[in-house]
Amino acid sequence: MSPMMIAIDGPAGAGKGTLARRLARLYHLAHLDTGLLYRAVGLKMLEKDDDLADKEAAVRVALSLKANDLKNSALRDEAVGNAASHIASVKEVREILLTFQRHFAHTLPTDKQGVVLDGRDIGRVVLPEAPCKIYVTASPEVRAERRLKELHEKGIDSIYEAILEDIKVRDARDQTRKASPLCPAPDAYIIDTSEMGISEVVNKACVYIDATYPKAYKHS
Ligand code: DC
Repeated sequence: MSPMMIAIDGPAGAGKGTLARRLARLYHLAHLDTGLLYRAVGLKMLEKDDDLADKEAAVRVALSLKANDLKNSALRDEAVGNAASHIASVKEVREILLTFQRHFAHTLPTDKQGVVLDGRDIGRVVLPEAPCKIYVTASPEVRAERRLKELHEKGIDSIYEAILEDIKVRDARDQTRKASPLCPAPDAYIIDTSEMGISEVVNKACVYIDATYPKAYKHS
């Protein structure tokens, strides 16, 4: 069997990260959360007090990125997500990060059966050759509620309306940028998770993946 290659895309908070982690465990796949690359560039720029609109600064930071930069716990902060969304519209930054992502996808560790990458443009730009492409979506209201719950669980007080507004702004920026806007690949399998729990989402994805890779080894 050729190595498995799974591309997962979708807007912020739709559940693509959770799905990618579950699939990675289930099928023994190397996993790359590609949002972390954009977040790492955003975080470094925030730390250096760089202007997020300064394209040349963003390119310099992207070129200096090291694997260790993806391990910083501050990457998950809201402000970093926003900064990431800004610099993600810079074409040159995307090209630099594209090389990193393709290298990851084509350098398979010997103990893995394949790769799964999640992001915004994996199926259309990073790995258009991936035999399995999943687009995970959910309504902005459901995504805002999930995010609110997550923040409450971390003990962070937040306002639903502010989160919803933030999600809508981020969606609009991701979907309307010129460079690789967020949109499903024409051959993507679309899962709307608005009314589903994670087990149902994973089950649906598995039925789709198993049809493409019937011989894949799978944890029970
Ligand atoms: O998935 P995330 O919230 O960690 O992503 C942060 C930002 O990075 C998101 O607003 C858009 C950008 N991004 C992108 O443009 N392409 C990707 N493949 C992944 C993320």
